[in-house]
Amino acid sequence: MYSILNMKGIILAGGSGSRLHPITLAVSKQLLPVGDKPMIYYPLSVLMLADIREILIITTPHDLPQFQRLLGDGSDLGLHIDYAEQPKPNGIAEAFVIGADHIGDDSVALVLGDNIFHGPSFSKVLAKEREELDGCLLFGYEVHDPERYGVGETDKEGMLISIEEKPSRPRSNRAITGLYFYANDVVARAAELRPSARGELEITDLNRIYLEDGRARLRALGRGFAWLDTGTPESLLQAAQYVRTLEERQGVRIACVEEVALRKGFIGPEECHRLGALMDSSDYGRYVMTIADEVAAAR
Ligand code: G1P
Repeated sequence: MYSILNMKGIILAGGSGSRLHPITLAVSKQLLPVGDKPMIYYPLSVLMLADIREILIITTPHDLPQFQRLLGDGSDLGLHIDYAEQPKPNGIAEAFVIGADHIGDDSVALVLGDNIFHGPSFSKVLAKEREELDGCLLFGYEVHDPERYGVGETDKEGMLISIEEKPSRPRSNRAITGLYFYANDVVARAAELRPSARGELEITDLNRIYLEDGRARLRALGRGFAWLDTGTPESLLQAAQYVRTLEERQGVRIACVEEVALRKGFIGPEECHRLGALMDSSDYGRYVMTIADEVAAAR
């Protein structure tokens, strides 16, 4: 058996969301609604499903107070949430420079604040990958337009053998999603990274260092998974439609952070009910109360 390493979480929610202008002229992209909840609930619930409770949210100085107003110190959800500023869009890998103190001596999961994941037994997948982490772990997803993303190729064992950022001629259809697990040495490696021609600390350059050391794995998320884009008005609408279609059909909610906190045992049914009652004018709030009552009755 592997020992469970302590793992910290980082959500990167910076950027200007320029492909969504004018929607994002005044509001952070990661606070826009996807269905009936703010976008950041989706990546937040991914970290919670990975049993990560100490989370740093990195965003722009301008947007930071709004994230704070939404999520506070996280204690309502049984979490500990801190905040840090990324004043300029200096690249995804800068998260490990800004977040160095937060990471401390632990391993870390980084999730991009606009990435939506949904799939079967995701909690189990995350737990397994967390236990077996050695170096860097990326999650891959087959797409028809890989040139828009980081693209990876693997050998038969799933070890990464090539990685390119937005290649004009992709070597595979496997996009690299915005969820990354790293061992603690990511802090030192990010600190040594040189800015790219675009002047950014590129996540793909960081991952290439692990590849060269033979310590980068790419785990494919299968066809039963959904990895949704939220970068353009059309894809944002499609993501919302996907979420609402499943939610209405099944009567369950995707990325309801109160429910995840309850089912993970971060909070009890009473606390969960109280959180729902604060929003009892909305279907979302009433759903949270119902779930809390069901769990309480089953105990
Ligand atoms: C970033 C990464 C890219 C990755 C993508 C996932 O691209 O650079 O490798 O595939 O996130 O969402 P961006 O969305 O910042 O263009």
